[in-house]
Amino acid sequence: MLQFRLLGAFLFFSATVTAQPTHAIGNIFKPLATPAELVSELSILTLVICAAVFLVVAALLAYAVIRFGYREGDSRSEPPQVYGSNQVEIAWTVVPILIVFVLAMSTARITSAVQDQRIPKDAVNVTVIGHQWWWEFRYPDLKIITANELHVPLSTASQRKLTYLTLLSADVAHGFWVPQLAGKTDVIPNRTNRMWIDPKEAGVYLGNCSEYCGTQHAKMELRVVVDTPENFEKWVAQEQQRAPAAESADNQRAFLRSGCIACHTVTGTPALGRLGPDLTHLMSRETIAATEVPMNANTLRDWIKDPQRLKPGNKMPTIKLSDTQLDQMVAYLTTLQ
Ligand code: CUA
Repeated sequence: MLQFRLLGAFLFFSATVTAQPTHAIGNIFKPLATPAELVSELSILTLVICAAVFLVVAALLAYAVIRFGYREGDSRSEPPQVYGSNQVEIAWTVVPILIVFVLAMSTARITSAVQDQRIPKDAVNVTVIGHQWWWEFRYPDLKIITANELHVPLSTASQRKLTYLTLLSADVAHGFWVPQLAGKTDVIPNRTNRMWIDPKEAGVYLGNCSEYCGTQHAKMELRVVVDTPENFEKWVAQEQQRAPAAESADNQRAFLRSGCIACHTVTGTPALGRLGPDLTHLMSRETIAATEVPMNANTLRDWIKDPQRLKPGNKMPTIKLSDTQLDQMVAYLTTLQ
């Protein structure tokens, strides 16, 4: 019963959070970008070969068991022992070698097809930084910083558009995995890993950290929002704007006087903290707390009031705030479009 309710809540959440189609997290058999397609082809080839081997071995075994099994009246003595058949030995040596050769060569071909991809000059560059327990996305060329929701342009047959990801970690090892877009890639401290994607359908793709990284590893989720070229441009223009001027100086002051600015940035204000997500365009994101709940004034208020309730162990401290302060802060933050 609980599962159904959870599923219902999830479907409701997915539907309310975005009008765009949500591509399910588990569907590794419906790849929607070249790297994922290549990996999927290889997996299916491997699966087919292994299934054929299994069927042949299982059939021979079943035949032997049925045909040569003990029957009533059989003698209990050892059957004749046969040694040395060159043909049989050559066959069961050469066939597996050929199978392994085919699998190894296909794997090498797919690996090099993904890794040797030439990155065109017009690719969108994004630096992905894994944090305990959220994702930071920096667009160095576009001068955009955001969190947990990665916007990338759609790639079509007529207009191929690559997004080139540089993966870094701020603390421990994480794993960047969006099953329908590409294989998982480790995000390791003091090491730069790279990957690329070219999503072929617009919509929201769900991903998750794939390397155990501490208490909230399971909730270190991310969304890749694939926009049509026009929508991507709109999003870029929106994110490149300065933070809107405060509508109420009191509300802004409530935020600036809180401890929040030690970790969070709102450009154009004294809030310059770098430890937590950049809040300059907070409300342009559809979710909060590493995509845990939809973003709105209520969830934001709950989250600030007690960050440990939704994601126990997370690094955002609980700050003592009066209800008035909390209301003022939420009023200010919700203006950050
Ligand atoms: Cu980050 Cu698991």
